[in-house]
Amino acid sequence: MTNKLKYFIANWKMFGDIKSLKSINSVIKFTRLNKKKNFKLIYCPPFTLLHAFNEKIKKTNIQLGAQNCHHENSYGAYTGCISPKMIRNLGAKFVIVGHSENRRTGESDILINNKIKSALKNNLTVIFCIGETLKDKRKNLTKRILRNQILKGLRTIKSTSKIIIAYEPVWSIGTGILPKNVELDKNIIFIRSIIKKNLNLKKIKIIYGGSVNPNNIHNLNSINSIDGYLIGGASQSSKKLIDIVRKSFI
Ligand code: PGA
Repeated sequence: MTNKLKYFIANWKMFGDIKSLKSINSVIKFTRLNKKKNFKLIYCPPFTLLHAFNEKIKKTNIQLGAQNCHHENSYGAYTGCISPKMIRNLGAKFVIVGHSENRRTGESDILINNKIKSALKNNLTVIFCIGETLKDKRKNLTKRILRNQILKGLRTIKSTSKIIIAYEPVWSIGTGILPKNVELDKNIIFIRSIIKKNLNLKKIKIIYGGSVNPNNIHNLNSINSIDGYLIGGASQSSKKLIDIVRKSFI
């Protein structure tokens, strides 16, 4: 196993309340004891917990991210929305954009592109989610879909230094079904080649998301092209999250 930097991004989705914060004490302790290991742990709780999380992780090397943002970068008359500037003000340095659960409710590639640009303006690192549905996969459209999502989502973006791509096959999210290693490796290499050839952008971090858990992490770690993981369900259990990180460095 190499000792390259790995990202572990905990996506809590619409789960958690103020009491849930207690559960991360063990994660804080774990990161303190494993300072020398080459990983970044980023929590993306719901907006309602960002402030409390920021207070809690202040003196740790855990970092904070939001799960989405508005496309306007500062303030505006948008009832119920949260801008990248507000997220940054709360102490978060990351934001997930283009998650399939949001694409499903109508987020277009153009909107996602605007969100990415606004987030970058506010110095946030974007976790840009892409991935094919089961229908796309069955029709052999995976490459076309990924290519489209990348080219539209990253249109006019000049640098990838603050972008992490999260490749999440939609059919793998929350289902316990993972792509075969060969397929996953092939798709990640394909994503990297599109970024290089079509956008002329340099090296980019690509993480995998979809049913990552302590039982499959060892196998996933054998795929060298992966720079880390976006973890949904399993990240709500501190024990499972610690296990995933620990097993990545054994
Ligand atoms: P999952 O979610 O780990 O529960 O499959 C991943 C995600 O949606 O980011």
